[in-house]
This record gives sequence, structure tokens and C-alpha cells, in this order.
Amino acid sequence: MPVIEVEHLMKDFMIAKRETGFLGAVKSLVKREHIKKEAVKDISFSINEGEMVGYIGPNGAGKSTTIKMLTGILVPTSGSVKVNGIIPYENRQENAKNIGVVFG
Ligand SMILES: Nc1ncnc2c1ncn2[C@@H]1O[C@H](COP(=O)(O)OP(=O)(O)OP(=O)(O)O)[C@@H](O)[C@H]1O
Ligand SMILES: [Mg+2]
Repeated sequence: MPVIEVEHLMKDFMIAKRETGFLGAVKSLVKREHIKKEAVKDISFSINEGEMVGYIGPNGAGKSTTIKMLTGILVPTSGSVKVNGIIPYENRQENAKNIGVVFG
């Protein structure tokens, strides 16, 4: 069984669209429009015990968002994550006993 298993993982963020100027600010109070940001779009991989891996990509590619889902800080929009047999976002504290994570 892999230590980390990720299947069709997705994370969308809904971002409030900002209108410029005073009139825009007033408009935002009444009706705020949101745009969908697909931060992680259908990622699948598995990592076995003893493997040493890197996860690379340009700024904003979704690396940190992926790691946050592996730690249980963020809940995926869809897809599945399993770390040591634990679903991180369902059992964040139990998962935290087995992992280490550092954010720059
Ligand atoms: N909490 C959030 N709300 C809205 N958008 C977000 C949020 N977190 C990340 N994003 C957006 O999702 C995308 C992926 O961000 P992420 O931080 O995962 O990228 P990254 O690969 O870690 O980038 P970097 O190399 O700069 O650390 C970016 O467009 C980012 O702006
Ligand atoms: Mg990052």
C-alpha cells in the first residue's frame, strides 16, 4: 500500500471579483460576483515507502494547495487523498502525528 495516494485531486477557490472605485465598492456590497480559480486540477500520484520525491512547478501551479490537502488543512473540492491510510481532512489531528510540514 502506498504511503501517499492521490487520485483526481481538485481544489477550486471562489474569489470575490473586485470592482474599482467608490461605485464599485458600493456595488460589491449589494451583489458580489465570484470567479472560480482552479488551483489544483486533476492531480493523481502515489508515493511508496522509502521513496524520495520532489514536487515542482512554476509559481501558482498549486503545489502548496496540494500539500495543504495532504496535511488536512484544506478540504479537496473533489478527488481523494490518503496519507498512511488516513483521510487527512477527516482526521487532521491523527494525521499530524505522523507527518512533518514546513511552509516557507
Ligand atoms: N486561499 C486561497 N484563496 C484563493 N486563491 C488561492 C488561495 N490559495 C491559493 N490560491 C491560488 O491558487 C493557485 C495555486 O496557489 P499555490 O499557493 O498552491 O501555488 P504554488 O505552486 O505553491 O506557488 P508558489 O511556487 O508561488 O509557492 C494560485 O493562483 C493562488 O493564487
Ligand atoms: Mg507554494
